[in-house]
Amino acid sequence: MDKIRLAIVGCGGMGHRHMYGLAELHRAGWTRFNLVGACDPVLANAESLAAQAAERFGQKPAVVGSLEELSEVGVDAVDVTTTPPYHHTVAIETLERGWHTMVEKPMGLTVRACNLIRRAADASNAILSVAENYRRDPINRLAKALLDAEVIGTPRFLIHHAIGGTNRMTISVWRHQKDQSGVLLDVGVHYADMIEYLLGEVDTVYAQTRLHEPIRHNSAAVTGESGSNPSGVYTKWQREMPAEFEATAEDAAYATLTFKSGAVGQYIEDHGAWGQGDWLRKIHGSQGSMTLPGDRSGRLITLNIDGQEPLSDERLLDLVPDFRLDAVTTDLFGGERLWNYELPFTQIDAKIIAIEYGDFAEAIAGNSEVEVDAYQGTRSVAVSYAMLESGATGQIVQLDEMLNESINTYQREIDEGLGI
Ligand SMILES: NC(=O)c1ccc[n+]([C@@H]2O[C@H](COP(=O)([O-])OP(=O)(O)OC[C@H]3O[C@@H](n4cnc5c(N)ncnc54)[C@H](O)[C@@H]3O)[C@@H](O)[C@H]2O)c1
Repeated sequence: MDKIRLAIVGCGGMGHRHMYGLAELHRAGWTRFNLVGACDPVLANAESLAAQAAERFGQKPAVVGSLEELSEVGVDAVDVTTTPPYHHTVAIETLERGWHTMVEKPMGLTVRACNLIRRAADASNAILSVAENYRRDPINRLAKALLDAEVIGTPRFLIHHAIGGTNRMTISVWRHQKDQSGVLLDVGVHYADMIEYLLGEVDTVYAQTRLHEPIRHNSAAVTGESGSNPSGVYTKWQREMPAEFEATAEDAAYATLTFKSGAVGQYIEDHGAWGQGDWLRKIHGSQGSMTLPGDRSGRLITLNIDGQEPLSDERLLDLVPDFRLDAVTTDLFGGERLWNYELPFTQIDAKIIAIEYGDFAEAIAGNSEVEVDAYQGTRSVAVSYAMLESGATGQIVQLDEMLNESINTYQREIDEGLGI
């Protein structure tokens, strides 16, 4: 098969990280893509990505500022890593042009933006994939296999707690702005995807939401050192951001979820918490419980089955004799049955992004369906906003009503700003 001519659209932090992921995929021997374009209206960002790509691939992608110019370069596929307000504008246009499109999470800025992308994907012959990375972590694959094997029996309830943050800026200013993302969407959409990956579809959500820290602080503008900087790529941009700024998006959600299976979830996501931080993902079933490690940490799952010693080592694999990672993941992580791994975060990050590209390439080749499609990408955005809609109205929110847009008290203003 000919190489897939790919461009990265949006060359900020995640655009660079995606390019590192693509290089990692090539290193592992999967070389279906040819990176031919770096597209960003901020040409310095596109140039930075292209220059670093040249070091890794021995060939410099074209630096362009628009999709129109990209069509002159000639592409088969794009990877959309712009800020969230542009996901739908870019993805709809690229799907209409017939370019296979992988779009970063959140799939769209609101449920309506996602539904517009979904319709464009349905009307196009091109593939749409959502780049949701957490579920592709080999340890989360093992957790899913253990749940499917019913080692804890039937899941009854989930606890998901992510508590910390104080008044620090999370990576960038836009992450705290309601009209551009908000942290509960930016981070929460990953958790929503993981929760549905593990326990199936969410049915209802009740939440209290808060904006605890309306003024956020950016240490990089003061000391030059960043406080929140995944894979270390953000420092140069953070130094140019204001030292303090107003946050307009809620930064905490305290929620009760119900699942179609009958399971219940207790969810706390608080990015404005002081004191001792906490992170916990734990599932209790009819025969035991499973505690999962942080995503992209490589750390251990712990099983507690009543009447047995807690299990947190290689013997977890004995419970799932058929568990195998897919071929790309196996090549990247060096084993098809992993129960832990120890790598620096930059490498973990690149490998998991490489898995997303591997999945996208397989779908383009017609060998399989994408793992995270428009439906699932929309659902995850809907779960995150269900908390904000419930917080705004005090009502219990049905996911189905989120998906069909009949609930949009919170999102209306954002949609109006987008002109959709
Ligand atoms: N999966 C993850 O773990 C993860 C981590 C970080 C970011 N992300 C996602 O990646 C996306 C980008 O985040 P980031 O941290 O790179 O943000 P960023 O601000 O660092 O970079 C965004 C880039 O997009 C460019 N851009 C804006 N509009 C554009 C357009 N219409 N066409 C082309 N380029 C455009 C900007 O100029 C900027 O260079 C967001 O959706 C974010 O949620 C995902």
